[in-house]
Amino acid sequence: MKMKELILASSFTILLTGLFSYFIYQENRNANKVIPVMKETQKVISYIQNTNEFKEEYKSMYEQITFHEEENFFHEINCLLHLNYTPIEINELYDFVSHKNIEKLLDFEKMNLKNYYTIPNFEVDKIPRYEMYQDKTNTTLEEAVLKVNIGLDHEFYTQIEEIAKKDDYAILVNKYRFLGQYEPTDLKSLSYDEKYQLRQKAADAFEELVSFAKLENVFIRPYSAYRSYFYQQSIYNTYVNKDGKNMADTYSARPGHSEHQTGLAVDVWSEGLEELKESDANWLKENAYLFGFIVRYTKETEKITGYIEEPWHLRYLGKDLAKKVYESHLTYDEYYDLYLKNLN
Ligand code: DAL
Ligand code: ZN
Repeated sequence: MKMKELILASSFTILLTGLFSYFIYQENRNANKVIPVMKETQKVISYIQNTNEFKEEYKSMYEQITFHEEENFFHEINCLLHLNYTPIEINELYDFVSHKNIEKLLDFEKMNLKNYYTIPNFEVDKIPRYEMYQDKTNTTLEEAVLKVNIGLDHEFYTQIEEIAKKDDYAILVNKYRFLGQYEPTDLKSLSYDEKYQLRQKAADAFEELVSFAKLENVFIRPYSAYRSYFYQQSIYNTYVNKDGKNMADTYSARPGHSEHQTGLAVDVWSEGLEELKESDANWLKENAYLFGFIVRYTKETEKITGYIEEPWHLRYLGKDLAKKVYESHLTYDEYYDLYLKNLN
């Protein structure tokens, strides 16, 4: 009798569990089936009509505009309709243009942005500059966007922007981006000589690079690493007095504009020499990224960076990012604009 009851109770539990799992499975299936389809095709009209943003005169437009889950979406589409964008154009904007750009678009007269749909790093407020740069240099629109975003349509050291996140290991510092008198707080001395310091992760990575390089018969040592704003100021002034400002600007950063001030850049010489041997420079060019560094200033990139070739200047980015930048064959200035700027 007891056994019978036990069997009955177990069967009942199994049945209930089975039914419950089936119910959950069906729910998930339905959810999976329905939600994406709804999201893709649902028009604004079914969301806006009971809100304060509903405008009778735009009703037929709402029926053609695809709903997007964006903050202030209804307000934005009303503005865009007011600016005479058609529903098709509005749908395209939300498909191809960043939300940041759509927000900026509301401050301008209607524009035709079709040529920009495939250029993810364009910025609405820089369009006149892109067009001027393109006319002047006869380049592609993509190239014009990239160069203008870096600032290259203006002289170096003009239109300078103060960098917001100065502790970011992926920081971009150049002649348009200013560090102020920033000082890193996690500097660590290098084993070669304690007077050379880098930020913690960069210092550890540098030690790793130096040790590994030895195994491949490459013997290098640091000869300049972290430099404060005021130290950079004194060396820049020394160079200006020696070579004049124009020349000094080709090889030394002005105070507040040097990667050395971030504690993420180090200059290296070959052991026993006061220069970097070509063979060591070649090794660094091909291998530094494996340890998280890039050779920041090369011969091919002088026009973009504004500095002559510096095969000895290594910039720490961390292994993942250094690999990506190395493989991209871009300057860090370009890479940052294309892939990092919008993450910050
Ligand atoms: N020599 C490099 C550009 C610097 O001064 O930071
Ligand atoms: Zn340097």
